[in-house]
Amino acid sequence: MKVWYLLLVGVALLVRQSEAVQPFCTTNPSVTVSPNDPRLPAFLPPQFQTVIEGSIINSGMTVVAKEYSDSAAGMARMDMTINNQVYTAIVNYNTNQSYHINNNAKCTVMNISTDDDAVLLGNGFGSMKHGFSTQSMLRFAQRYGEQYIGKTTVRGIKVDHWRSCLNWTSFSDIFTLDYYFTDSNWTTLDTSLQIPVRAEIKGEQYAPNGSVYYSFHHIYEYVSFLASIEDPYIFETPPGVGCPNRKSGRSMPKLKPQYQYREEVVDQSGAMLIQTDIWYDYGYKLVRYDYRPVEPGYPFWTQNPLSRIQDYNTGASYVIDHVFGNCTIEPIANSTWDAIHTASSKQALTLRNPEQLFYLDNTFAYAGQRPTRGILCDVYASFKNGTTMEIYFLSKDWTATDNTGIDPTTPDVPVQFSITYSDNTQMLYNLYDFDQEHPNILNAFDITPCYSDEDKISFRISFPYNAGSVLKVYKRAFQATCLELLSKLGQLSPVRIQKTEVHWTFDHIYFLATIVGMAPSIAKFQKWSGLMANYQDDMNYQQIGSATTCADLCDQQTRGTCNSFDYCPKSQVCSLSGLYTSDGKKLSNAPTCSHFSRVLTGPVDHEVASGDAYKVIKDGVYRGGFLIPIKFPGVNEVYRASDITDKIIRNPVAGKPVVKSIHHFTDHINKQVRGFDDLILTGLAVDECAAECQAEVVFDCQSFEFCYDTGNCIMSHIHPDEHPDSIISSQTCDLFVRDYTSKYTQLPGTTTLSKSDSIYQSINNANQCAKLCTDYNGFNCKSFDYCPDIHTCFLGRTHVFDLPKAQINVQPTCNHYSRNYADDFKKITNKVIRLQDNRIVFGLSAEQCAKMCVEEEMFQCSSFDYCGNSSECRLSTAAMSRVGQVTVDSSAFCSIYNRQYYPSGKVYVPPPPPTSAKYTPGAMAGLGIGAIVIGLIIGVIGVLAFSKFTNRPLDEMAVAFTNKYTVSTDE
Ligand SMILES: *[C@@H]1O[C@H](CO)[C@@H](O)[C@H](O)[C@H]1NC(C)=O
Ligand SMILES: *[C@@H]1O[C@H](CO)[C@@H](O)[C@H](O)[C@H]1NC(C)=O
Ligand SMILES: *[C@@H]1O[C@H](CO)[C@@H](O)[C@H](O)[C@H]1NC(C)=O
Repeated sequence: MKVWYLLLVGVALLVRQSEAVQPFCTTNPSVTVSPNDPRLPAFLPPQFQTVIEGSIINSGMTVVAKEYSDSAAGMARMDMTINNQVYTAIVNYNTNQSYHINNNAKCTVMNISTDDDAVLLGNGFGSMKHGFSTQSMLRFAQRYGEQYIGKTTVRGIKVDHWRSCLNWTSFSDIFTLDYYFTDSNWTTLDTSLQIPVRAEIKGEQYAPNGSVYYSFHHIYEYVSFLASIEDPYIFETPPGVGCPNRKSGRSMPKLKPQYQYREEVVDQSGAMLIQTDIWYDYGYKLVRYDYRPVEPGYPFWTQNPLSRIQDYNTGASYVIDHVFGNCTIEPIANSTWDAIHTASSKQALTLRNPEQLFYLDNTFAYAGQRPTRGILCDVYASFKNGTTMEIYFLSKDWTATDNTGIDPTTPDVPVQFSITYSDNTQMLYNLYDFDQEHPNILNAFDITPCYSDEDKISFRISFPYNAGSVLKVYKRAFQATCLELLSKLGQLSPVRIQKTEVHWTFDHIYFLATIVGMAPSIAKFQKWSGLMANYQDDMNYQQIGSATTCADLCDQQTRGTCNSFDYCPKSQVCSLSGLYTSDGKKLSNAPTCSHFSRVLTGPVDHEVASGDAYKVIKDGVYRGGFLIPIKFPGVNEVYRASDITDKIIRNPVAGKPVVKSIHHFTDHINKQVRGFDDLILTGLAVDECAAECQAEVVFDCQSFEFCYDTGNCIMSHIHPDEHPDSIISSQTCDLFVRDYTSKYTQLPGTTTLSKSDSIYQSINNANQCAKLCTDYNGFNCKSFDYCPDIHTCFLGRTHVFDLPKAQINVQPTCNHYSRNYADDFKKITNKVIRLQDNRIVFGLSAEQCAKMCVEEEMFQCSSFDYCGNSSECRLSTAAMSRVGQVTVDSSAFCSIYNRQYYPSGKVYVPPPPPTSAKYTPGAMAGLGIGAIVIGLIIGVIGVLAFSKFTNRPLDEMAVAFTNKYTVSTDE
């Protein structure tokens, strides 16, 4: 306050007429300047800044003040340096508060109406409320009679000079005030008119008895006066200074319960930059942070990058070394930055809430707006025990876009956090990529490196829906919802559900996941070595071999909750207690024992073993209780799971996959073939191996072995049925032989081909005969008879569909096989391919339609629609593998049969999609229906004759070729 007194010119004054006996001067408000004299400027520009150097002559000292005023913003500031101290006062007329900062450190907030200094800053004068220092001064000078003295020069500047006599009642001061303003012809810095150049006061302070108590004389020089303010943030309190009780322009934003960000720690005293990534989820009670230890130290002695995943559901912490890939599971340490002691127990830990993670509490006060890293921020500061903490939130007027998650924007983004200690050292945390969504469940909390395969169960849940269009957008939401449901259903910490994946086909959604084992019990307890609790034990176990076993006994205790235990390896005694360490008396020394106390508090949910959890989940799925709602604007679906299986290759311990589904092969369990290795692949599931064999083009893959120990898929061109003696037993491998009979429908005890001209002797089995038929080049082999007793195989040109009844003979020792066409197609029920029909035929079965598609010569038949209600068969060149080329519609009675294999069993490769410019004349005829479809649009309906058709040997049955609009019977 004294300081302000020194700077009288910078303040507003309380003035009244003096009644002192021998005043230093006399105030005469009636004194007026003569009409030709200039008047003392009454108003300064609405915005200005200036430096004032004050010579306090009577005290022999200099003060320097920088004054800033912005009447439109309702803000004023003065920084004063005196005696090597810096004082700042900022007056905020918007909140009627003033902030007083000493030496850029301590800030006191005052109510303007009760602030002594604010008196000096212009309050308490009714209409003068918004006056400030120089400005107020001028008004008083005018009101109390300014006298024009004349022109003179100050510091070489041409000036006008005025004088008035003022009286400051509260201090009984009477003094003259001389004001010098630039002459109106003088060019100022920014060409402002008439700016102050000097003020001088000279006067006396009187004792109550009227005697002179004190004389004073000050000269104030105004320099660098500008009618603008250079620093737009000059009215903000300085960084690192908290102003408790400061009224806020905006209340501090609340952080969401989950977020992730990258942090750059600037350790100024250590001259060090540290990068960390953080994933935080208060709902899941999980935190992960990735860091590199600054130096090798206990307990990992490494500088490899580490991930630490802390599970506050169990108290276990997983540390994964990203170079070695190994993992250690240990209890969450009580010193960790993300943990806080619970209020009820000084011992147990809990996860800091979203605010606590940044130490945000009600001591944080708004500290104005300030840019950092070029970003305008709202700053909130807290000043506690000499330490200032500040958090910078993105200003409301800015928006942030992040590149993670569903939310496009991130509101209330923290940009920076800083801690300034009393010695002025600072820790700065630059926060990047701040996103307030659930961290990516796919990989954020991946603890799978911490578990061996025996501790994992993988499974697949199927949902019978065509949901590709929804999943394309909401796959992650679907995944997250599945994870949450699994966690709830299986009573699993979310961290135990890993490697979730979502896939979909035309008719199914598949969700895959892996459940990892329980956290080790010992990792849920903090250890005090060489100490022991001396309170009452609830339970004692003898002959316990290790602390781990003792921890298991404690953790799995169901008769009450075991919260701590002592273990003495020497005596092998394990003592359990329901108390927490801090609840009991002091620990006593026990050099050969250790004390362990539970990391977390509250009711202990006993963890569920993976196998049990899987059973519960399985029950949930089969009872129809696994429902996944996907609700977003424009989407409101609920998907009910229909099926769950752990028979997936990802699951190393679930036993062998069901091989029956690989129906193009016959399996020979625990068999192998010597010298059998045209191609060896690894990392495939058995069904994938089968698919590879069928798709193999370099050689003709006839069989493969799948070895469950190595996961090897060994393919061969040998068909072992031709060399039955090469088959040997195997412990770990199964043999799969191409099953050619699966391509044929068997008519047992029947022959049709006794007159066949292609007869093979010494054929071991029907499969070998089927292979001969499939591979036969002499004619188009459509059927065969196999008679096992005489090892004879007859190949035939005609299909049983095409034969007159009379030619079908009963022969109990033989079987007839006719080509099976529909098996070469994958059926997609209740769907049709829109407007792509190349040929439409009525009155066929699906099998006959398939045959027609396979035998079609006019065009490449890649698929057909078959409609059961109308026995309608529509052949098409459209292949559903050509994404984007076909449009699929729903249909009550029809199904799409999408071609998968050639008759040889090779994978069918659809022709490239036709482009209208490339129609050949032949294709044109075949594509007649396609042309009609186009023709129909312009109302032309044509009847097409399929010339080629009449040249073909007619099947016995009559076939009607039609399209939707025209019918032509061809008998
Ligand atoms: C300041 O003090 C006045 C008078 O005591 C009171 O009416 C006003 O509400 C106070 N304002 C603030 C900002 O505390
Ligand atoms: C990984 O293995 C190394 C070598 O055995 C060991 O020193 C280190 O502590 C382990 N790290 C973790 C995180 O388990
Ligand atoms: C943290 O745990 C260690 C033992 O693990 C113990 O010595 C220390 O006193 C604990 N600190 C607090 C604050 O509880």
